[in-house]
Amino acid sequence: MAAYPSNIALGIDIGGSGIKGAPVDLETGTFFAPRHRIPTPQPATPEAVAATVAELVQHFDPDGELPVGIDLPAPIIDGVIPSMANLDKSWAGVNGAELFANVLDRPVTLVNDADAAGYAEVRYGAAVGRSGLTIVLTLGTGIGSALVVNDVLVPNTELGHVELDGYDAETRASSAVYERENLSYKQWAKRLQRYLSYLEGLFFPSVFIIGGGISRKSEKFLPLIDTRAPLIPARLLNTAGIVGSALLAAEAVGRAPETITPLPPLPEKENEGGKADEPRRTKAKKAGSRKKNTSKAGKLAPKSNKGNKSKQSSTSKKDKVKKAKKKHKKA
Ligand code: BGC
Repeated sequence: MAAYPSNIALGIDIGGSGIKGAPVDLETGTFFAPRHRIPTPQPATPEAVAATVAELVQHFDPDGELPVGIDLPAPIIDGVIPSMANLDKSWAGVNGAELFANVLDRPVTLVNDADAAGYAEVRYGAAVGRSGLTIVLTLGTGIGSALVVNDVLVPNTELGHVELDGYDAETRASSAVYERENLSYKQWAKRLQRYLSYLEGLFFPSVFIIGGGISRKSEKFLPLIDTRAPLIPARLLNTAGIVGSALLAAEAVGRAPETITPLPPLPEKENEGGKADEPRRTKAKKAGSRKKNTSKAGKLAPKSNKGNKSKQSSTSKKDKVKKAKKKHKKA
């Protein structure tokens, strides 16, 4: 059994394809030991997932003192999961905190995946030191959201499920939809624009942080979106859920780190040369397996652009991208 220093907690991130965990150094928001990943069992029932989480925890062989935080893609109220959108539906009504505490034989802190990721961004990453309301959105299979006000997390917001133009927003604007519908970045950015403008009109945040795996490619689509609040990519990328769960677990048992050193900014990316509206999946196209999506970006496109040819002229588009890029950099 390994004894970990008091500034370490174990974070576990349950996703649709993988369950990942690592002991986290809470003073720096970095991994204390390499991350371990086990594929998510299919179907991802509570029992099967709990058994996989137990295997993952065993890998790190923790003593009984190590705080354990687990995140999953659903709201959690007093440990109970009221509904589940993207894992097995049998999670609805399950007391997840109890389930994991039983299989692990220790108390655990169970949190929503976007809350964990968003909290990590606010404490170690892209939103450190920002006052007012930070909205973190994770774009993946669904859209997750975290609202943090002056470092305090408002848990269980489900902004991916706001109904917009008659659709559940995540079914039109998540990165899974961008993949599935073979959208160009430009088409997808229009949907995100509509979604973000809508959220902005409701919450007027001080900053939007965009996370999820696709935030690695943020330079391809964020400059195409114009919001009043700065719109900036997440800093922690795929470690955010693990780091945030670990920190929330430590805080829950009074073991918050005494000091936190935020992560340094990521090195700026070289322009990879791709244009925002270039087709991306040449392989699939060559094989003839995907048709280019030439349809309008869909109902989540900004209304003001509909049928307005002059606004769509290439010069004004270029200007807009330039302006947005500038704003993006400033943030
Ligand atoms: C779920 C959220 C989750 C998000 C990202 C949504 O479908 O309802 O709870 O945070 O997906 O995984």
